Amino acid sequence: MNIEDFTILKTGLIYFDNGATTLKPKILGEAISDYYNYYSSNAHRGDYGISLKASQEYEKTRGLVQKLLNADSPKQIAFTSGTTDSINKIVFGYFKHHLKSGDEVLLTKSEHASNILPWFELSDEIDIKIKYIELDENHQVTMDNVKKAVTSNTKVISLAHISNVVGDVRPLKEITKYAHEHGILVLADGAQSVPHMKIDVKDLDVDFLAFSAHKMCGPTGVGVIYIKEDYLQDIKPIIFGGGMNAEFDHDGNRVYKEMPDMLEAGTPNIAGVIGFGYIIEYLQKIGFDNIHKYELELKNYLVQRLKEIKEIKIYNENSQSGIVTINYDGIFPQDLSIYLDKYNICTRAGSHCAKILKDELKIKNTCRISLYFYNTKDEIDKLINVLKNPNIKNEII
Ligand code: ALA
Repeated sequence: MNIEDFTILKTGLIYFDNGATTLKPKILGEAISDYYNYYSSNAHRGDYGISLKASQEYEKTRGLVQKLLNADSPKQIAFTSGTTDSINKIVFGYFKHHLKSGDEVLLTKSEHASNILPWFELSDEIDIKIKYIELDENHQVTMDNVKKAVTSNTKVISLAHISNVVGDVRPLKEITKYAHEHGILVLADGAQSVPHMKIDVKDLDVDFLAFSAHKMCGPTGVGVIYIKEDYLQDIKPIIFGGGMNAEFDHDGNRVYKEMPDMLEAGTPNIAGVIGFGYIIEYLQKIGFDNIHKYELELKNYLVQRLKEIKEIKIYNENSQSGIVTINYDGIFPQDLSIYLDKYNICTRAGSHCAKILKDELKIKNTCRISLYFYNTKDEIDKLINVLKNPNIKNEII
């Protein structure tokens, strides 16, 4: 990785809000502007050169996502607008038709809103029961607690591979193994894991996976659904229109296309999907194992340095990802974030869209530092110096 790849970093900005979204290397803007300047056209709809090129580039990204995840076929990959859109399409396109009243769905209390609210909505429609896997004393998911929560009515376990606040890497492979032995399907929210580590859907054996491009240096407005081969025929569209239908007539007879077109109604984010392809190749050159290893090293350094400041409480020092969630005694987390911004340091304060977790942690809000491969120990040292400022409270008032 070359720091020159990220124009914004040359301004001296220290960007520690990678859980929310990541910075974009120049190559993304170049790929997108290339499409808009040289072959702007619709994909899958035109019988002329630039439209065929747009279609080819769009489908090339699908192939790259397939390989990235080690999926068997590009049919298993549908593009959406982001993780939230992906999860909604899985919940209402698949589970709505395969669950019945009384069936239980297991979530955790540290899930993001996008993996809780669709289930609440489905529960209102078809009377399924939402239950939670208990978190341990470190607010993490353990296999023992998964086993304790499963009953003969459990039909789905839907959880983040890595929590966006606690940063714990859930034992997904063990969870899917246990779930499948009990006839339970697993939906994994990969928003915080796919950008940071090598993901093999066959090894993890997940049934459904959702993630976003923008949390891995890609564009906003592009997400992915991965569906295991066994369920490809059973998912139904929840958005209807052009591109997803094979034919229809005035009596309302209609035939919809198969996956993945079925889930991609309307003109998609062509520029974004094409740009995402270039980003996948960019990240693969750096190597996902290298990214993961480097982030863990940085995270351990960050925790070790934060411990030098007695006013700092760290909520997740044992997490196995680049997410570190803190509070500074006597400073409201939003004020801390605004203070850090004065020194050009970006963090996120609040409940991080995981509104049930704050009751579990028994605190209202936290300040989150979330790392990516372009962060450095030097940036962490700058953060620590700013946090050690003896006038910190005066500067905030
Ligand atoms: N899900 C994003 C976050 O954790 C927005 O900040």
